[in-house]
Amino acid sequence: MIHPRTLRVDYDKTISVVCVVGSELNVNLNRSAPPSSRFFSVKCTPSVWCSISPQPQETSYLSPTPLNGNSVLLITMTHASEFENDSKLSVWYYGENKEVLGRAILHLTAVEISLDVDADRDGVVEKDNPNKGSWKWGPDGHGAVLLVNCDSERSFWKKPDTEQDYISKVSDLKDMSVMVLRTKGPAKLPEGYKLTMHMSQGDAESVRVFMSRSPEVVNNAQSKKLLYNYFVRGYPLVLSSEVLSQEVPYIGGVAEMKFYVEGLRFPDKDFDGLISINLSLLEPICAGIPETPIFTDKVMFRVAPWIMTPNTLKPVEVFICSTSDNYQFLKGMRNLVAKSGYKLKICHEYMNRGDRWMQDELEFGYIESPPHWFPVVLDSPRDGKLDDFPYNELLGPDFGYVTRVAERKDVSSLDSFGNLEVSPPVTVNGKNYPLGRIIIGVAFPTATKGRNMTKVVQDFLWAQKVQEPIALFSDWLLVGHVDEFMSFVPAPDRKHFRLLLASPDAGYKLFRGLQKDGHGQAKLFEGLKYEEPRTVDDILNDRHLQNENNYVQSCIDWNRDVLKRELGLDEEDIIDLPILFKLVAEEEEEGKGNEYRAVAYYPDMVNMIVLGKNLGIPKPFGPKVNGRCALEVEMCSLMEGLGLSCTFIDDFASYHKLLGEVHCGSNVRREPFDFKWWNLEM
Ligand SMILES: *[C@@H]1O[C@H](CO)[C@@H](O)[C@H](O)[C@H]1NC(C)=O
Ligand SMILES: *[C@@H]1O[C@H](CO)[C@@H](O)[C@H](O)[C@H]1NC(C)=O
Ligand SMILES: *[C@@H]1O[C@H](CO)[C@@H](O)[C@H](O)[C@H]1NC(C)=O
Repeated sequence: MIHPRTLRVDYDKTISVVCVVGSELNVNLNRSAPPSSRFFSVKCTPSVWCSISPQPQETSYLSPTPLNGNSVLLITMTHASEFENDSKLSVWYYGENKEVLGRAILHLTAVEISLDVDADRDGVVEKDNPNKGSWKWGPDGHGAVLLVNCDSERSFWKKPDTEQDYISKVSDLKDMSVMVLRTKGPAKLPEGYKLTMHMSQGDAESVRVFMSRSPEVVNNAQSKKLLYNYFVRGYPLVLSSEVLSQEVPYIGGVAEMKFYVEGLRFPDKDFDGLISINLSLLEPICAGIPETPIFTDKVMFRVAPWIMTPNTLKPVEVFICSTSDNYQFLKGMRNLVAKSGYKLKICHEYMNRGDRWMQDELEFGYIESPPHWFPVVLDSPRDGKLDDFPYNELLGPDFGYVTRVAERKDVSSLDSFGNLEVSPPVTVNGKNYPLGRIIIGVAFPTATKGRNMTKVVQDFLWAQKVQEPIALFSDWLLVGHVDEFMSFVPAPDRKHFRLLLASPDAGYKLFRGLQKDGHGQAKLFEGLKYEEPRTVDDILNDRHLQNENNYVQSCIDWNRDVLKRELGLDEEDIIDLPILFKLVAEEEEEGKGNEYRAVAYYPDMVNMIVLGKNLGIPKPFGPKVNGRCALEVEMCSLMEGLGLSCTFIDDFASYHKLLGEVHCGSNVRREPFDFKWWNLEM
């Protein structure tokens, strides 16, 4: 966007003026006229285009034209100059009798200047996009994209690349967005003129700008040599929080200078993700007086949000821990992952230090710009013994890392990322969520006290915007994670997924059916070493257990209603899994008595790992009928209808008894969405 610039001229003087191609100079003819001028005329060389406003009656102002009180001369130039002063314009002033009273002469030099970005998001920096200075969501939107350079190109002293303010490896450049300064004009700018790049203090906390060592001079051999000598040492830092404004070289001829823009922080509560960078042409007044900007070009970027990947996306790599006591589980997982054809990464004991909850320490996601994407792990403030794993083992070239730091006292079990999930894409009352919606668990809204996901993580999640979060009620669970009662599996029909919910009612229904069919003496937990088997009859006679499960069902139903509403689901989109819970007493603060919270009564089948069409489900050890576990049979029949295959994994001793299951003990890195986040309609 170019605004007209008012130009001062003095009669009987020759002034030299730099004009940016496409911009307009306005000269108030009356203001600069000698006293008692009555007429004026204007002459100029062909490269200069001028007109008078308001339009005089005379069609030509080459001959004396009456000087009107508010006549303004409008000057534009259509081509860049080859030499300084190569265009000229003169204004002649005449008295009553058309005698010459004075004459103002302009020596004009035209330059083309454009600071360019990939505003149309096709991976190429186009020339002077009219929309480059603003940002708009959607397929017909515009505005460039910036990545947080949160991976680490360094192999020795590993740190995210954002923590160093220089470029040590050329491979780091691909994590930055290219910005091009295109100029065309004489070999050098007239004396005293200069180009500066600048940004605001606020934006400088979120971004850095580097310049390319080897400017691309298209047709000017001499200046090429000059600049090559100048910048041969690396990629100098141009703008940062310490340097908000810096002169950038003007190369001359037809030139393109490349800049690399590096994002330093993700959108958050105090940062909407938008960044602007300006480039100005400064005009000297005279020595000792600051230059004034006569032309400013502006570009805008949005920092790419961190995006989570739902169960319906294709897996790439499965992560689990090896501990001294989980051989059985490991074996089951190895087989499942091998059968499914994905990579398996085992975190060994020296690194996990006995912490097996791979789901809880981290969440996989990714960031994307039009030409580039890479996975980014969000490290939970949980900080268990797996704390070092995300940083030490995952952060690396093309693997980014982000975390939010909370005070110890503010961190609860709800900050583990078994309590952070994401739905598949949904449409809710006409509103599309093509990247799904984040799901977290918090305290019941009416509770005066209770555990919550810590504010810094919640703020971060909400600020990403593209997967608008939903808060569920999970504080009724002892561990308090949403993955204890819900999951998503792919489906061939309807919305292309089903929501699975743990359901005590479905559990009781199944057990009553068994009793009715004469299997009341079939036993739960049969064959388990340290577990007392329990008959179906016994379970059904336990009034206390039934009451507890009624409470649990009502907690899950509350969440079911929220999920139906917030994800736009129908009953047909939900499958109830037969799972019973029990309540256990949890010591509360002194004098407040005990608080009762729920845990799964037998392995919690909803807490599964989803690998394409293969499900790894905690082996429930349910009552056997004709040699087959009735819970497994039910589970398989529910899932097979969707074309899914169930593998039951024995996690009883090493996970279930420690209040977690297969999902809690694993993590999956998945392919990114095909859908580009900037195409979201906001
Ligand atoms: C351009 O014109 C200005 C003003 O007339 C003059 O001071 C300057 O030296 C000229 N530059 C060149 C390269 O001729
Ligand atoms: C950048 O330019 C825009 C429009 O010309 C202006 O409003 C803004 O203040 C400038 N910002 C900086 C940091 O110079
Ligand atoms: C927990 O977080 C939710 C969601 O941000 C918020 O609405 C609620 O007020 C918080 N509850 C407590 C007890 O802090």
